[in-house]
Amino acid sequence: MKLWGGRFRKEENKLMEDFNSSLHVDMRLYSEDIKGSIAHVNMLVKCELLTKEEGESIIKSLLSVLEDIESGTLVIEGDFEDIHSFVEAKLTERIGETAKKLHTARSRNDQVALDIRLYAKSKALEVIEYIEELQSNLEEKAKVNNVIMPGYTHLQRAQVVTLKHHLMAYFNMLDRDRKRVLNAIEIMNESPLGCGALAGTTHNIDREMTAEELGFSKPINNFLDGVSDRDYLLELMSSFSIIMMHLSRLSEELILWSSQEFRFISIDDAYSTGSSIMPQKKNPDAAELIRGKTGRVYGSLTSLLTTMKGLPLAYNKDMQEDKEPFFDALDTVLSCLEIMSNMISSMKVNTENMKKAVKYGFLNATEVADYLVSKGVAFRDAHSIVGSIVIYCEDHNKAIEELTPEELKSLNPLIEGDLYAFIDYQNILNKGIKVNLLK
Ligand code: ARG
Repeated sequence: MKLWGGRFRKEENKLMEDFNSSLHVDMRLYSEDIKGSIAHVNMLVKCELLTKEEGESIIKSLLSVLEDIESGTLVIEGDFEDIHSFVEAKLTERIGETAKKLHTARSRNDQVALDIRLYAKSKALEVIEYIEELQSNLEEKAKVNNVIMPGYTHLQRAQVVTLKHHLMAYFNMLDRDRKRVLNAIEIMNESPLGCGALAGTTHNIDREMTAEELGFSKPINNFLDGVSDRDYLLELMSSFSIIMMHLSRLSEELILWSSQEFRFISIDDAYSTGSSIMPQKKNPDAAELIRGKTGRVYGSLTSLLTTMKGLPLAYNKDMQEDKEPFFDALDTVLSCLEIMSNMISSMKVNTENMKKAVKYGFLNATEVADYLVSKGVAFRDAHSIVGSIVIYCEDHNKAIEELTPEELKSLNPLIEGDLYAFIDYQNILNKGIKVNLLK
């Protein structure tokens, strides 16, 4: 069944019909479509554009369609252009003539804009819940792992940090992600219903009423903008891309840390896989997949940005292409957040190996320079003195704190026995501004 056809002399080409149909994609908007129609009907009744009886009959039938879809008795399939046509066709099958009045003062342009906005808003709230879950798992893991580890720059051992501090860096990144998604929700929280095809309607409708019933803060000001705005999808996909970038960086760390070269953590068997040929292998597939799927979410963002960039106002059919990338980006970010949450909570930490890496990485070299500064040496000179101490240690296969007082003295006469406490890793972390690393 078509929602149009009156002005056509010829049947639509079958190939064109398939090409035009978006039902297989937008079918997931069925409950938003029905919810939006119910609000629209309530408003039409209040504005006396439908009788009370007509309104009741349409709403009752819309609810029965919803119930049947949800119970599986009504399957969304067939030769329909989209979910809006499908729902209206089912309504017509059930109540006949009255169903034809549902679309009074509405266009599919404001209808689809409404459906996708409602859907995006509720799913964005779900993304926030998933982010919070991951944040809480990171915080839990961090709390019980206030242990020293090497901190890196250029992936070279640099200075001592704690695993807690390292994991909490991701907690903070995710906190910004959460705020970005919340901000996008706040900006999108306006109702497009009643914008019509592009220029509103001559009927005396109440847009405030539908906006309120559907949980929006207000109706959208400009009709042309209301039907053609997809900024909120782009904004959400930008936020999803940044979330994925963060998850991908964390994945990269987990992949490195679980390698034989680092052996800082082991990823739980439940989130690893084996090799079909090498029996000893345990691969960090979950982390690798998250890293890999990041490109896919960036791709979705780029896809819709490109679709939108040349469109004149107002609605253009190109916009039907907004859903696939958005749904794909959304599904991907939700599953990656969930997998990462589970991987973090189930991973095992190898405290001893992290300690060892600290010890043989000269991670207290900067503090030896600070010590010399405290004895009156200029920092640049201290830096070079410590450089030669490191060479000496490498030649003798020792950590700085393993050098004897005599060796230290011979390397620089200003070095006394108090150096050992000064460069002790725990003491370093307890000191001054670094106390934050232990919190
Ligand atoms: N399936 C369409 C979409 O997703 C619905 C709107 C169709 N509007 C139109 N004027 N053909 O954009």
